[in-house]
Amino acid sequence: MTQTQPIPLHSTNRTRAVFLVGFMGAGKTSVGILLGQRLGWRFVDLDRQIEARVGKTVANIFRELGETAFRQMETEALQKLLHALRDGDPTVVALGGGAFAQPSNRELLESSAARVIYLDAPIDELRRRLGEDDQSRPLFLDAERFRMLYEERQPLYRLAPHRVQTAGKSVIEVAREIESLLGES
Ligand code: S3P
Repeated sequence: MTQTQPIPLHSTNRTRAVFLVGFMGAGKTSVGILLGQRLGWRFVDLDRQIEARVGKTVANIFRELGETAFRQMETEALQKLLHALRDGDPTVVALGGGAFAQPSNRELLESSAARVIYLDAPIDELRRRLGEDDQSRPLFLDAERFRMLYEERQPLYRLAPHRVQTAGKSVIEVAREIESLLGES
């Protein structure tokens, strides 16, 4: 397969989209950017779209408006994006770590023709990837909350139709694995 050749996806409507979900540090953005480049697809990071729309960083939205307000913005942004993707360009989307944990967002994705892929990794590796002090992630600041959220969300992420284990793999290895997975489905 060449770098820019789109892979065949057999959708019931015209949506050609891949959504990457998973915990903070799973590699959704870095894998998503590379996968988009390899497929010749657009890449969208939903958190960056929210930030551009609201004019605040995610950290500031949490600080100033609270998590509930952020979750509402997230669902609204997802709704708009899925609508735009119906007749839009093929797109790889990185969702924020909490997005797929929300039932309303899972329903939106289920009722679309988008492919949803869970990027899995053990918690120690996620912590290592994120480093010691990531001020941009409000839910990473407290180690105990990070661990509890990870455990709480595992069964929810596993509701995704596809799962790719990323432990010990490079970004390009994960991107290649997703490509072959998409080619087979
Ligand atoms: C969140 C993860 C973040 C961001 C926000 C909330 C979460 O995205 O959406 O801080 O609830 O896990 P990343 O997974 O890209 O860090």
